[in-house]
Amino acid sequence: MTGRGEAQAGLRNRVVVVTGAARGQGAAEARHLAAAGARVVAADVAPEPEDDLGGGRYERLDVTDAAGWSALAERLHREHGRVDALVNNAGITWRARIGDVDPADMERVYRVNVVGPLLGIQHCAPLMPPGSSIVNVGSVAALTGHVPVAYTTSKWALRGLSKVAALELGPAGIRVNTVHPGYIDTPMTASAAPAFRRANVAETPLGRTGTVDEVAALVAFLVSDRSSYLTGAEIPVDGGMTAHGGVKSIAEAIHATDAPHPQLRLP
Ligand code: NAI
Repeated sequence: MTGRGEAQAGLRNRVVVVTGAARGQGAAEARHLAAAGARVVAADVAPEPEDDLGGGRYERLDVTDAAGWSALAERLHREHGRVDALVNNAGITWRARIGDVDPADMERVYRVNVVGPLLGIQHCAPLMPPGSSIVNVGSVAALTGHVPVAYTTSKWALRGLSKVAALELGPAGIRVNTVHPGYIDTPMTASAAPAFRRANVAETPLGRTGTVDEVAALVAFLVSDRSSYLTGAEIPVDGGMTAHGGVKSIAEAIHATDAPHPQLRLP
């Protein structure tokens, strides 16, 4: 949902920082929030945005750079006096498996996927009035034992950071929630082998990949006041992939061979 519904939920004039917003899910989040009237600061390490940001202001920021966060926070304080929401969306993947992953790549992925969100929280939370919201973008890899070990463990660590932040910032009226996207069509997933996409669709009860708009709508809900009593929560937006815990192929195999338990007749 873009626009009116979210505007009614009090997103108008909210100052929202979205990281990794030059393209993919981050750009869609920036567009949704801007369409609802938020003042979006779309931050990314890329020199320029690749996608339409719907009017959000673009800022160059490497989320691993504490000095960069400090300068951004100072500017936001000067210009707006506050930050109402932070969406820690920037993330990188690295597809090495446990046998060949280089420790340097583990550290590089951790810096972006874990230290980046930590720095964002450290610099933005002091500017956040009660009622503010932080949304961290995890992954289905944070809920399962996915094979890219650097990426998977970094997203599990981000879950831990989210829980700690929800605990620490709750008394200040700041909510912290995590979304876990399944396979979403973006430049990140486009760089994977076609077999990866096919296998993801096969494990997804809804039988398709997700769109950036489907993630952005959930993020906008978590930023808005409509989720005012939600904190420390984790919401998969994955077409049901993590709900079946790996049982989908078993259910399908049994259905193919087993007559005594007829399936529901569906149109
Ligand atoms: P993407 O690769 O299309 O976009 C990521 C953006 O983050 C890029 O614009 C990139 O320049 C920016 N970025 C990378 N390092 C940065 C840094 N150090 N500082 C600031 N910006 C930086 O990726 P996508 O798919 O849009 O992913 C967004 C988030 O969603 C990531 O956290 C990713 O791990 C997560 N995710 C993506 C899934 C998918 O299927 N696409 C599935 C599950 C999670």
